[in-house]
Amino acid sequence: MENQIRHRLVLIPPPLQGHITPMLQLATILHSKGFSITIAHTHFNSPNPSNHPNFNFLPFFDGLSNTQITSKNFVDIASTLNIKCVSSLKETLVHYITKLANENHGEKIACIIYDGFLSFIDSLAKELKLPSIVFRTTSATNLLTYHVCLQLQSKDSKSRDLVPELDLLRFKDLPLFNLTNQYDFLQSIGKTLSITPLGVIFNTVESLEDSSLNQLQKLYKANLFPIGPLHMIANDANNSSILQENDNCISWLNYNKPRKSVLYVSLGSIASWEEKELTEVACGLVNSRQNFLWVIRPESISDVSAWLESLPEDVKVGVAERGCVVKWAPQSEVLAHKAVGGFWSHCGWNSTLESLCEGVPIICQPSFGDQRVNARLLSHVWKVGLEWCNAIERDEIERVVRRLMVNSEGEMMRQRATELKHEIGIAVRGSSCDALNGLVKYILSLNA
Ligand code: UDX
Repeated sequence: MENQIRHRLVLIPPPLQGHITPMLQLATILHSKGFSITIAHTHFNSPNPSNHPNFNFLPFFDGLSNTQITSKNFVDIASTLNIKCVSSLKETLVHYITKLANENHGEKIACIIYDGFLSFIDSLAKELKLPSIVFRTTSATNLLTYHVCLQLQSKDSKSRDLVPELDLLRFKDLPLFNLTNQYDFLQSIGKTLSITPLGVIFNTVESLEDSSLNQLQKLYKANLFPIGPLHMIANDANNSSILQENDNCISWLNYNKPRKSVLYVSLGSIASWEEKELTEVACGLVNSRQNFLWVIRPESISDVSAWLESLPEDVKVGVAERGCVVKWAPQSEVLAHKAVGGFWSHCGWNSTLESLCEGVPIICQPSFGDQRVNARLLSHVWKVGLEWCNAIERDEIERVVRRLMVNSEGEMMRQRATELKHEIGIAVRGSSCDALNGLVKYILSLNA
């Protein structure tokens, strides 16, 4: 797009780490393709503009100050955002449209790209006569389950029966059935699915989710753009972490850790273990006699150092000898490190993709929502994950860690994960690159 005007895109993520990160990666990619980028964001959990000097930032009111996001209030947060942000975002955009026209020689917004979590933006964009594209930050399979969920309300949520329309997923894997306030969730799904977008962007790889993308294409008249994994395409060193990363863990990994010897343990930005469970995890990890790098977020426990001090002496010594505990890690760098041989994860979609791209197999311990779908894909479709839903109890933990890190079962998964890593590398240069070029053309055609 050299020597031409840069078309301006406004990208709008919700204030959640697992959604902000891929949206900023998408922004980086589109900027490299010649677009001007504005990120409209809530004050709560706002991204740090100084980490993204090429973008403009546009804050709007959200009504969420000091909220702690947990797996239990996740649906309420979605509802709050979809109610409280309607007028504030509208006001902000109207003001911005005028400002651009007056100060930037009549510049217009070429397109709004919004996260599907903020479903109200579909009608807002129509009201403001702005073209819009929805960005789905979870897997395509997860979106497909929503369509099926709406027809399956009465089925037993613990059923291990396979869902007829969904390859290899069981009823118990469906996101609808593992949230506390199902009614609200159903309402929000209904709204989400009533959206009639012009285009849908997915952070996924065609070869991984071929069947789900084909089924979605039949349901949507929209253009689907599976452009992923975004973190690989963006290749962006800019940090989008809300919490401060602790880089000391990289020095710890560098120091005397044999290849593939470290288990990385993290439940992402929302799921957490209770204090009693943390003690069981500490004992299980130490008893497994494997090295481990463990992320314990400040929300999980207020004073991690005091808690570590309070552990029984032998466990404390074991953690000091074999472990490294941090509040937040540079996860992509950790997973890419040669010393890391396994990941104990909640199976958030970003963590899933990051692990697949580095050929690291996973102990899958999903907590809520799409994580169960991802866990099922990892364990039963791509065969690089151990499905694990046992009690958080030290002997169970010791066993599952050794299954992944020591036993031949884990070694086979590591081999399979390495194959998948290569397949994904090929797809990034193939189908994902084609989808990205298709998206650029499509946005330009909206403004031709
Ligand atoms: C949420 C939902 O829980 C998830 O299921 C959905 O798919 C996306 O939104 P989250 O729980 O945070 O996300 O999980 P995940 O999608 O894995 O995203 C976490 C992000 O934080 C990843 O990009 C990961 O690299 C990053 N991270 C996590 C760090 O950078 N450091 C850490 O210590 C932990």
